[in-house]
Amino acid sequence: MSELVEYLKTRRSDLAMTLVDPAPNERDIETMITLASRVPDHGKLAPWRFVEYRHDDRQNLAKTLIIMSDQDNDVARKESREKEISRFQSAPLVIGVISCARVHPKVPEWEQVLSAGAATMQLLIAANGLGYGSQWLTGWYTQNDNALKLLGVGDDEQVAGMVHIGTPSAEKTDRTRPELSDIFSRYSPSK
Ligand SMILES: Cc1cc2nc3c(=O)[nH]c(=O)nc-3n(C[C@H](O)[C@H](O)[C@H](O)COP(=O)(O)O)c2cc1C
Repeated sequence: MSELVEYLKTRRSDLAMTLVDPAPNERDIETMITLASRVPDHGKLAPWRFVEYRHDDRQNLAKTLIIMSDQDNDVARKESREKEISRFQSAPLVIGVISCARVHPKVPEWEQVLSAGAATMQLLIAANGLGYGSQWLTGWYTQNDNALKLLGVGDDEQVAGMVHIGTPSAEKTDRTRPELSDIFSRYSPSK
């Protein structure tokens, strides 16, 4: 079996909180972004961009995010918001994949958003390929307008994912996967 198939059969995300130093260096980061941008993209629109949130900047961003979280009326979710902010601070590296889908005469916005999803997945894989662990996270701060502005995401953009990257420090076990019979069928024309 090829190495690629073996990788795909066993691939797992890491938990962001278990990712530790060493962080990818500048060269590794550029390699990861180059690989992540090599995805299917109808119309060659590159409807995504990548933002590196450095560790020091994230500590400062987190202080403002906590204030924004305290002002949020959804008191019941305060604890989970704070957990998300804490994860955002802890990983050695966070790369935001920003979907910049726009109205186009031929390519529906939905397809452009899908391409951003593909770029995010490819970034997870690229990190693994360079020996790092990775996890695709979103959460409150990727959906709150004020938080998005703070993170440098435009009004007409969305966060496809905040990819948390670092050196794995914990063993991974598999998780339950869907049964093939539940997710796969062969089309049969109705009579
Ligand atoms: C768009 C998207 C957003 C996600 N956001 C979160 C999140 O905010 N928190 C979380 O715990 N998992 C989130 N996940 C799930 C994890 O990235 C991942 O599915 C999980 O860790 C296990 O996946 P694995 O099969 O790659 O190991 C998200 C997944 C996707 C596709």
